[in-house]
This record gives sequence, C-alpha cells and structure tokens, in this order.
Amino acid sequence: MKKYFVSVVLVLFSITGSMGQEFQSPNGNFKMIFTLEKDGTPTYQLFLKNKEIIKKSKLGLELQKDSKSLINDFKLVNEVRNTFDETWKTVWGEETAIRNQYNELALTLKQNDTDRLIVVRFRLFNDGLGFRYEFPQQKNLTYFVLKEERTEFAMTGDHTAFWIPGDYDTQEYDYTESKLSEIKKLFRGAVTGNASQKQFSDTGVQTSLQLKTADGIYLNIHEAALINYSCMHLNLDDTKFVFQSHLTPDAKGNKGHLQAPCVSPWRTIIASHDARDILASRMTLNLNEPCKIENTSWIKPVKYVGVWWEMITGKSSWSYTDEVPAVQLGITDYAKVKPNKTHAANTKHVKEYIDFAALHGFDAVLVEGWNEGWEDWFGKEKDYVFDFLSPYPDFDVKGIQEYAQSKGIKMIMHHETSGATRNYERHLDRAYQFMKDNGYNAVKSGYVGNILPLGEYHYSQSILNHYQYCIEKAVDYQIMVNAHEAVRPTGICRTYPNLIGNESARGTEFQAFGGSKANHTTLLPFTRLIGGPMDYTPGIFEMDIAKLNPNNNSHVNTTIGNQLGLYVIMYSPLQMAADLPEHYNQFLDAFQFIKDVPVEWTTSKYLEAEPGYYITTARKDKNSNNWFVGNSNGYQKRTSTITLDFLEKGKKYEATIYADASNADYKTNPQAYKISKQKVTNTTKLQLFTAAGGGYAISIVEVP
Ligand code: NOJ
Ligand code: CA
Repeated sequence: MKKYFVSVVLVLFSITGSMGQEFQSPNGNFKMIFTLEKDGTPTYQLFLKNKEIIKKSKLGLELQKDSKSLINDFKLVNEVRNTFDETWKTVWGEETAIRNQYNELALTLKQNDTDRLIVVRFRLFNDGLGFRYEFPQQKNLTYFVLKEERTEFAMTGDHTAFWIPGDYDTQEYDYTESKLSEIKKLFRGAVTGNASQKQFSDTGVQTSLQLKTADGIYLNIHEAALINYSCMHLNLDDTKFVFQSHLTPDAKGNKGHLQAPCVSPWRTIIASHDARDILASRMTLNLNEPCKIENTSWIKPVKYVGVWWEMITGKSSWSYTDEVPAVQLGITDYAKVKPNKTHAANTKHVKEYIDFAALHGFDAVLVEGWNEGWEDWFGKEKDYVFDFLSPYPDFDVKGIQEYAQSKGIKMIMHHETSGATRNYERHLDRAYQFMKDNGYNAVKSGYVGNILPLGEYHYSQSILNHYQYCIEKAVDYQIMVNAHEAVRPTGICRTYPNLIGNESARGTEFQAFGGSKANHTTLLPFTRLIGGPMDYTPGIFEMDIAKLNPNNNSHVNTTIGNQLGLYVIMYSPLQMAADLPEHYNQFLDAFQFIKDVPVEWTTSKYLEAEPGYYITTARKDKNSNNWFVGNSNGYQKRTSTITLDFLEKGKKYEATIYADASNADYKTNPQAYKISKQKVTNTTKLQLFTAAGGGYAISIVEVP
C-alpha cells in the first residue's frame, strides 16, 4: 500500500476576521475558502472549476442554554495542512481497492469569551468536500448538550432536488423531484404510508440528498461516519435556498450528548458536472476509519432466497396461530394453541426453500416467523414480545440446520426487535450465541414500529448507539448483520465490514404495500446507496400481487428486465432473489441471470446516469474475467446506448442480453422480455430498448 503523508503546521496568533484560508483538491478542481466573519462566525464556501457551488455558509453548534453556543466569537489560533494518498483494500465492495486521496485543512478556533477550542477539519477530495467538528480535551468544554447543529449548505439557486421528508423514524418513502421552492407545497403530500408523522418541519428533507443545478451540476449532501451522534436532516430556508442541519432529537428534545474529546460525523458534499461521478465517488467510505476487524475471513458476500415474500404479500403469515395471542390466554406452551394453516416458517416448507437454493446455487436461506411472539406483537407497543431463542413448535432448528448443512446451504437468522432496542440488548448475547450454536453466521434484524423506550426516535443518538452496539457485538460472535429500519448508512461498513446490509429506504416490500414509483431505483444509487449497500431484495417476476393473495391488489411497478438489472445497479454484497420458487420456475430462462450474477466485484463502471431517469452500470466479477451490466429506466421509454470498451482488448466474449421486449411496460406488460446472445469485444456498441419502468441485464462471458 502506498501512503504519502505531508504535514505543514502553521501556528497563527491573533489572526482575525477578513483573511480567508483557501485550499484545493489534489487535482485542483475544487477550491474551498474558509473565513471568519467580523463577529467571529466561521464560514466556508465551495467552488467547482472556479464556479461557486456552495455559497458562503455558516458553521457552528448551538448548545443548551446553560452554555454559550459555539457559533461565533471565534478567533483562528492554529492551522494545519496535510496531503494524504493511500490505496486500501476492501473486504467486499464495488472495487477491490479504493484510492483515498485528499488535501486537508484543520483549523483550530478559540472562542474569546469562554476560551473553548474547536477544530474544523476540512478534506478536499477530487470528488468533493468533507468536514467535521472536533472537540479536543480541554478544561472549559467537557460534557455538553447540543440544542442544534448549525451547519449551513447555502445553495446557489433554486435547484432541482430529489427528496424524501425529514422524518425521524422512517426513510421508507418514494422520492419527490421538485425545485427547492416547491418543497413546502409538496411536503405534506409526500408524507405517506406508515410513517410516524412526527413534528418535522415542512421543508425538512433527509440525506443523502441529490440535487441538480440549472447549469447541470450534480450535488450530493450526506454525512459520513455517523457514530455516537444523532442523524442529520436538512431544513431549507426556501426564500434564500439555504439548508441548515437539523439533528434528530431525543425523547427530551436534546440533539446530542457529547463528551470531549470527541468528533462530529463528517458533512459531505460530492459534486460533478457528470452524474456518473456521483455514483463512482468513494468519498463516504474514505471518510470512515479503516477496518477494525482483524480477521475478516468469515465475512463473505451472500446470495440468498427466503421464506419472506409470501408473508410480505399476505399469502402466508409470520404468526403460528390466529388465536387471541397465546400468551394473553395464559398459554405459554405453543404446542397447545391451534395453529393456523398459513404459517410459512415450518420445517417442511423451509426444506423446500433449502432444496431450491441448493438446486440453483444460492448461498443461503432466510427464514422469518420462526420464533414465538408474532401474534402477540402486531399493533402493540410492548417491549418484551420476542426473546430470539424460542422457535415455534413447527420449526425444527436442529433438523433444519442439519438439512441445510448437508446441502451446502447457510441459514440466515431473523430478529424482528419490534423496535424494542432495550429488550434486544438484554437478549443479544444469548441470541447471538444461539445462532452460533445452530450454525447461523448472518442475521437480518429489524426495527418496525415506534422505538421502545417510547419517545425515542429511530435516528436519535442513543438509538444509533444501539445499532452500533449490535454491529460491534456481532464481531465477537463472527456474525454478519443486515439491519432493516435502522439509520441510513454513512460508510461505517468500511470500519465494520460485517455490516453487510441495511434496508433504511423504501425496499421492494413496498411493491406489495401499494407499489413504488417506477423510477425509484434510478434514484436509490444516488441517495440511499451513497452511504452503503442496501438489502433491496430484488428479483420479483410476478407483478400482480393478487395472484399470490386475492386481498392484495398491489402491483409491482417494474418490468422483469428492470428486476434483473437491479442486481448490477444496486450494489450489495448481500443480494436476495425475493420471489417465490414457483414464479422462478415459470421463467427459468430469465432466472438464469440471477443465478449467474456474482456478489463480489473487482471494479465498476458507470456507463449512463441521470437521477430519476436511468442508470446503466457495468461490473467485473471478482472470480473470473466476466462482466455484468445492468440498467434501470424511469418513466420514459428510451434507447440505452453503451460501448463495451471496458472489456479487455483482443479478448472475445459472449453476451447474453436480457432485455425488455418492444411492447414491455411496467404497468401493462411487465413480464415481456427477450433474451438474445451475441459475440462481443471491447469495440462493440449496443443499443437497447428500455421500457417505461424497464431495464435490462447482460452477462458477458469470456470465450476462447
Ligand atoms: C420490515 C422489514 O423490512 C421486512 O423485510 C420484514 O419482513 C418485516 N419488517 C418483518 O420483520
Ligand atoms: Ca422495512
């Protein structure tokens, strides 16, 4: 590994006001200027190729009232400049090696009145800016409570934004595309579904926020390394187009409890004239600490199927019984309650999934609804429903494990916590040990419903600490974690690569809860995936949900071509084939792509991209010379034009193209696809039709 580290330290005494600190990205494309206003308020301003992209924006933190806020009255007392260039190896990722190259400016500010010190550390990469607040150990700032973080992101105009409401409890929204000036008008209409409509402002949005300026600059605002701090939303002043940080409060309304020495997460701005560069950015990962797990040999990407979609669609149930909750009747022995006929997690059925997984080369099977408590949970806020140890009587843990092992299949554990974080922590060691004892090395956890203790939010500091605790504790047991409804990721998977997935956005499940917008997956890579992989659970082939459950008239708003493309465009080391085996059996030729597509990659290329409209991505398999291409298309049908110049020169390949048929349409004809084969080289140009809500997938295999 190459590593350069040059450091220049300048100690400055009594530098005041007017003078600005300026620095540039390694390639000179970005320039940032820091200034202290006359009243000692710190500000920054960002330029891309000499064009201002963030207007002068204030920095600072408001403290609870017993303490003077850290927002003004500062003088600059120290300045350190560094350059850094290192290439690090990923455990898994879109690439096997990632270059982390930046110039750094760390400014120590001293507050005149209080003598308190803060450091603002800026890093300029070739793809954008990251900065954070640091609170060194000192006499006058020890333990402090945040009222609000006051970081601004001042926009240069009324940009187009792709946004979801700044909810404290869910990210499971469709995106709205609008001008900044239209957010307020559209806000309440955008708050839908099962969201808990907490008291967020009418212009508050979540990060990662994707923006586009009138002159074609793509801006992306998010955060990195969100640890022991509360999650940031952005409140917009829609007269001036200035976003200000808005941290998730705790039950008392406080925004954070900090103890120096400590740091804030990084605030990030990725920017480019080319949307593909936003997808190619590794800045969020680079701003996280290197891997803290010494031996990572047990962390392995996983392609899986699961006893899942049938419950999501309402065809089957998680619960074992439909009786009044067994425990409420005083029955603790489930063998004594009347079973329903819809409980899917029964031994016989699970073995069918294991057989299907083994037959088609999958790694693992997820089973939900295996444990006692489901009928006791729905609709209640009880924090003691699940113990994560007690299987229903029809789920034979040992027998299933032995069967799976004999077929070379791993089982994935499911822990629905019911949002009861304290209850989960109480049981966690035993629950993880139970997994180890029964051969499980991966867990899908979930936080449905209000957080218990009541009053806390999904994204407040103490609850984020809970998610982090579960990830770190899992390392002790060599368990991989895929947490649903947890906070949106911020690149922590670099430090803890056992965090192999999160949901933390509107996943495929919503296609069975009334449907998602047909362009949803042309946005997720620009928003949710900036922080890390998503367990999106693609691969739905039967779009008419009423065929599974006559009482559910949802429609899956994509074509089969699109579903296949998602395995490439939605990067994740954890990929599910979410539909039922009987649906795959109807379309085995299309299913072949899901069987072939790898979950480990050497490198990735972004061939076409426009947020909300289309994405085309190519990736090279880690274990062969084969390439895979995926496309997701939005509402307007179009022709995707790509050149396969990423293939090795002089080599021959055979491409299998899984494309939308010319009459395909997400609404009216979603299952129309055509599969063709052709010889290709690195000069081949392809023009492929993509339907509304459509897409395609290509596997490119080297031939002699
Ligand atoms: C919501 C999750 O996203 C889904 O995947 C899971 O099946 C349910 N919660 C039940 O735990
Ligand atoms: Ca969910």
